[in-house]
Amino acid sequence: MKSTRALILAFLALLFAWVGQVAIGYIQVGRLEPVLNEETNYTEPPVPSGLAQTGARVFASEGCIECHSLSVRGPTGSADLTRGWGQRRSVPRDYLFREPALVGFSRIGPDLSNIGERIKDPAEMTMHLYDPRKRKSTSTCPPHPWLFEKRIAGPKTENDALPLTPINWKQTVPSYSAKALVAYLQSLNLNYALPEAPLK
Ligand code: HEC
Repeated sequence: MKSTRALILAFLALLFAWVGQVAIGYIQVGRLEPVLNEETNYTEPPVPSGLAQTGARVFASEGCIECHSLSVRGPTGSADLTRGWGQRRSVPRDYLFREPALVGFSRIGPDLSNIGERIKDPAEMTMHLYDPRKRKSTSTCPPHPWLFEKRIAGPKTENDALPLTPINWKQTVPSYSAKALVAYLQSLNLNYALPEAPLK
């Protein structure tokens, strides 16, 4: 008798956990669909390119999320919008095509939800990854030189080589991971309206 009661209690505990963590989440978010923008005929949120989706994995594996969130709060109770981190708050629908859906909460560095809007030039973004202080002398963002390769400079410099002085005839070029990460960062932009989150 005692063991039947314990079994029922254990079952109920598991059921409550499942309802709380899986079922309610699914009902709230799982049925969300993208919205069709009738002017452009594109969906909103936009589907990121394959390269940008690879970049999301580089972002996750490099641990950028340890310092940067990807979710804008506000307008009440947060200064995110006045800091220029987005034109509107983030909503669950924004993450529909984001795999992995990185939200983050740590804000040692600024939120990057609209970094594609703040740093428009891919060359500037690439330089930031190599050495943030080459872009902004006081930056405390860690450099990521291992995402770059040193290649012997031929008669012509490669198009995407960083504008650094070549050392031992070697130029610094972004690896595939660095290019994917830049494509991902450039795809981050909250410049589209959603029914539940209109632009200001
Ligand atoms: C140890 C914490 C830390 C980590 C890890 C980190 N950052 Fe940063 N990042 C910062 C800080 C702090 C700043 C703000 C300083 C500055 O002005 O650059 C920043 C700034 C930036 C900016 C410029 C933001 C702006 O508004 O101009 C970009 C882009 C950026 N980081 C990208 C990345 C990427 C991509 C990664 C992972 C490859 C990463 N960061 C990892 C701390 C970090």
